[in-house]
Amino acid sequence: MTGGQARARRSVLAVPGSSTKMIAKARTLAADEIFLDLEDAVAPIAKEQARATVVAALNEGGWGSKIKVVRVNDWTTEWTHQDVIEVVTGAGEHLDAILLPKVTEAAQVQALDLLLTQLEKRCGLPVGRIGIEPQIENAPGLTNIDAIATASGRVQTLVFGPADFMASLNMRTLVVGEQPEGYDTGDAYHHILMTMLIAARAHGLQAIDGPYLQIRDVEAFRRSAARTAALGFDGKWVLHPGQIDAANEIFSPRQADYDKAEMILDAYEFHTSAAGGARGAVMLGDEMIDEASRKMARVIAAKGRAAGM
Ligand code: GLV
Ligand code: MG
Repeated sequence: MTGGQARARRSVLAVPGSSTKMIAKARTLAADEIFLDLEDAVAPIAKEQARATVVAALNEGGWGSKIKVVRVNDWTTEWTHQDVIEVVTGAGEHLDAILLPKVTEAAQVQALDLLLTQLEKRCGLPVGRIGIEPQIENAPGLTNIDAIATASGRVQTLVFGPADFMASLNMRTLVVGEQPEGYDTGDAYHHILMTMLIAARAHGLQAIDGPYLQIRDVEAFRRSAARTAALGFDGKWVLHPGQIDAANEIFSPRQADYDKAEMILDAYEFHTSAAGGARGAVMLGDEMIDEASRKMARVIAAKGRAAGM
């Protein structure tokens, strides 16, 4: 499981770094995380100006308890290093993490780690505080996922990029998040999602699902989010205010499950201390609970507490 102390990332709001209007709106929305995008939401001609807009937006504040992230351009472009330099130099103290898209190998995460360390030192920031969120968007990224997950102690989450991933596989679909027509024997995304989830859990990271692009169809968003929430993912990107409440609800434990999880932990604690130390199965009402039940309860309780339940 993710560390019990991990901050909730149930809803991760994508905001184009070039749009002051959308940035202003994003401040008022109830997303757990926002990321200001310098990558695909920003046209090449607007990239340099967007860096300044993003720095100003971070420095102006007003983000409440949101996790504040900037998505830089990927390392195959000419922009990445300058994106990181300008954002960290200009607003590093207000930045929680860098989202690194299209990661294909561990060396790309290590390069970002080194650059961040130098910038933190130069700016007098605590070294190692700014996190990294690698985005898995192609076959090499998935193949190298364990090395990517462990490439730096800064890595906090693994983030799915379905649109780029489907394109990189030549999958015959244009509707991101939906099954390709003609494939009716299962879930075309299952292997990718499960591989990411297992890597995240193996290395104590959060697993975040990517966007659902049909932004007006909130019911379809709910179906898509419910699938990855059921697998165990921690959250999902949202592209529109209408998707935020749905994500916050779907990626929180249900109240009854949360209450029961806390009850199991209390009962286990009570019986354990009454017995003067660790013991095996104990009774909670008519139900027998044991160490494995306690582990499951801890996962749900940790998610509920992080969500402020
Ligand atoms: C997001 O970046 C995606 O490619 O789906
Ligand atoms: Mg992408």
